[in-house]
Amino acid sequence: MTDLITTHANADFDALASMVAARKLYPGARLVLPGSQERAVREFMSLCSDLVKIEYEKDASLENVTRLIIVETRLKSRIGKMAQLVGKKGVEVHIYDHHPRTDGDVKAAKDIYKKTGASTTILVELIKDREIKISPLEATIMALGIYEDTGSLTFPTTTREDVDMVSFLISNGADLHLVSSYLRGELTEKELRLLALLIQSTEVHVINSVHVAIAAITSEEYVDDLSLLAHKLEDAENFNLIFLMVQTRDRVQFIARSALPFVNVSKVAALFGGGGHPSASGAVIRDMNLVEAKAKLIEYLRSHIHSDIKAKELVTGKPVELKIDEPVSGASEKLVKALCEYAVIKDNGQVEGITSLKDLDRAVSLGFGHARVKGYMSRKIFPVKPDTSIYAIQDMIQEKDVGCVPVFDGGNLLGLVTRSDVLRAFHGRLFAAAAGGELKEPRGVTVNITPRIKKTFPAKMAELLRFAGRLAEETGFTAFAVGGFVRDLLLGVVNFDVDIVIEGNAIEYAKRLSKELCGVYVYHKRFGTATVFCPCPAGIAPSRSSGGKFRIDIAMTRTEIYEKPAALPTVKFGPIENDLYRRDFTINAMAFRLSRHHFGELLDPFNGRADLKDGTIRALHDLSFVDDPTRIFRAVRFEQRFDFKIEPRTENLIKKAVGLKMVDRTQKQRIREELIAILSEEKPLKAVRRLSELNELRFIDPDLTLKSKNIELFSAAEEALAWYDNTHTGNRHALERWLVYLAVLLDELDPAQVKKICGDFVFRKADAAKIISYKKNADRVLAAISKKEKLRASEVYGHLEGLSHEVMVALMAKTPSQAARRRIMSYMTKYAHVKLDLRGDDLKKAGIEPGPHFKELIKKTLHAKLDGKIKTKDGELAFALQHYRR
Ligand code: CTP
Repeated sequence: MTDLITTHANADFDALASMVAARKLYPGARLVLPGSQERAVREFMSLCSDLVKIEYEKDASLENVTRLIIVETRLKSRIGKMAQLVGKKGVEVHIYDHHPRTDGDVKAAKDIYKKTGASTTILVELIKDREIKISPLEATIMALGIYEDTGSLTFPTTTREDVDMVSFLISNGADLHLVSSYLRGELTEKELRLLALLIQSTEVHVINSVHVAIAAITSEEYVDDLSLLAHKLEDAENFNLIFLMVQTRDRVQFIARSALPFVNVSKVAALFGGGGHPSASGAVIRDMNLVEAKAKLIEYLRSHIHSDIKAKELVTGKPVELKIDEPVSGASEKLVKALCEYAVIKDNGQVEGITSLKDLDRAVSLGFGHARVKGYMSRKIFPVKPDTSIYAIQDMIQEKDVGCVPVFDGGNLLGLVTRSDVLRAFHGRLFAAAAGGELKEPRGVTVNITPRIKKTFPAKMAELLRFAGRLAEETGFTAFAVGGFVRDLLLGVVNFDVDIVIEGNAIEYAKRLSKELCGVYVYHKRFGTATVFCPCPAGIAPSRSSGGKFRIDIAMTRTEIYEKPAALPTVKFGPIENDLYRRDFTINAMAFRLSRHHFGELLDPFNGRADLKDGTIRALHDLSFVDDPTRIFRAVRFEQRFDFKIEPRTENLIKKAVGLKMVDRTQKQRIREELIAILSEEKPLKAVRRLSELNELRFIDPDLTLKSKNIELFSAAEEALAWYDNTHTGNRHALERWLVYLAVLLDELDPAQVKKICGDFVFRKADAAKIISYKKNADRVLAAISKKEKLRASEVYGHLEGLSHEVMVALMAKTPSQAARRRIMSYMTKYAHVKLDLRGDDLKKAGIEPGPHFKELIKKTLHAKLDGKIKTKDGELAFALQHYRR
């Protein structure tokens, strides 16, 4: 009797380990691998194929096989030429697999299925039960299998059996060091490139209300480990349902992942001749090209994706119940307290209607707080049954334009299902986690921040905002103030950088606004935005960067992708809520209305105000840092500026984006702007430290780390800048603070590295020149001016002349020498201001011929003046003449 053990093509460690484990149960069996293997498996095999004794399909004979043992798959299409043995007379088939059984499975005399994280676990359990001895190498391979398929025991599919068998293998000598060196961590260059392509190509289709991500690309070479990329993509983007397709020359690799219980992707893979689990599956498609396969996939999904969630599963608890004659104000308080948006109103135990916090609050604000809720409820309640489908509820909510429906089991009220409940159920991770889950403040409450606007700004500013709102209304648009301007206003920080978004045509609006305000407007075609520059309203200091004008940035509200069957997702202009959703953090995703009747009304759909109060930086959604990796730097900057804390989920998202090297794919120029912004903060050290903790300093230079020396330099630079501010009051901005900090941050790098950084990040020529000048001159100049012996003023002048203020302040920070520091201070406060009264004309009149010696003569005279040798203009002339004659 000859036993042959095989597994699926593209074997991973679980497949290999299952084969090795199976041989313990079928001693003497041959191990034959079909097709190719994952790269890490190949590398591993090249080291120990002699010990493990594995044959490859192309060289393996199938003669005389009487028993075929298939592990880690039960699909004939996946076992290469060994498929010839299936159904052959005289060949018995045994299967060990953790994939659930399906109709198309190989029929086997023995078929062992168990729901474990790895197939290896099933076989190791049998080995353990039968007390079969295993070697440390075998234990190591088996541990690799379990670790790999369970994500080192972290995937939700991991079972107690997986953990128990790992423990058994460790006690049998599994070498965990070897295990960890073979488990895939970092992506290779090629994989990173592919991942970037996949991310870029991802389309989100909304099919039967479910968000489906499909990434389809063409690649020159076969992708070794597409499942790893699928995993990374799934992780980074947090999609619930994702399909990857990669076309190589003659085939399309297909991988699917589902986190939705009602979508079984093994059935989708079966469509293409593949298989797998309900949550993870794959196939190799040979009879279709990418376009055909994608079209087939979409068509299939249209008819097969259906959520089976019912009303009873959507109900989150007993609703707030109000009596029909309760006063409105008390009722509203009850809802606020319960953090609910809706309440049912009962009379004599019967549900009479439903009311919302929004309606009650409107009544209170109009002075009807004493009125009865009866007057503010809707009697049209559209009841549903516990088994009503989520689709029917969704249709009802849309058609009847209601915010919720009550669920009745016979006469018994189970609860309410709201519009948000439906959204969450369909879009799972995308919406459930958005903005930190539960509402801390009920959405219905309208907060008006007009008093704060009055308190924070000069009267003219409020007038301007109102005017901007009125003008939008006249043009048929709606205008909102948005972003950092609103955040700072709520913090009580005066910020005149007004950002306005328009539900309507921003360009047309900008044109009109600039005309009305006697200003000009600039249209940024690429972004569809405009900036209006107008004379500064009274009491507002003009901003340096806008050439003394008042600046208003204007954009259209934008929304992201929406479904049209089979159409690509598009970016459209949409309502303000969608515009806020595409922003970075909850504290920056607030707006207030500028329209006449609602001026100052705050829109805060993600509880930014609560986060401002708590001091929390929170990303709006899990894609935030993948959408825009520069947000990593923004998070750190805001955290340090406001002394806030990046909350744990957001920090994790940052770490994931860092792990995926997202920043490396971002244009360096964009990072430069963020770097300048961070180093321009009042105390940038904290933010730089945080970046270093997050391992993101390497984006500047791979060798750059924050050493204790840099930390000392940062503190010294802070002191030197404080001195500069005190001595240059009124002219503080003559110096770019960020350049001083950049110089000390790069202090350890050599000149060539610094030059490269300046080039890579495309710093402005003048800025780059300053950084390079610091690097070039620091040691020489400091050596010269650190001398203990007395230096004449002219000597100090000679050494420092021509250096920029930034470089000198950085030198002050760098030097341990008091004398050098004092000399720089004297130069900046005294020597640099010493000027000759003598002019060129005076020299000409005195008979000195103009020429190159003029400059030298003037320099000499200036030095003499610096050294106190001359006091008057006559003395200067006499000195010059005397030296000319010589
Ligand atoms: N924004 C974003 N993602 C970015 C940059 C900006 O979502 N990478 C959004 C935020 O809503 C932000 C607004 O655009 O509030 C304006 O951006 P910007 O003017 O750069 O920043 P501010 O938040 O105003 O911060 P600062 O005070 O540093 O100017």
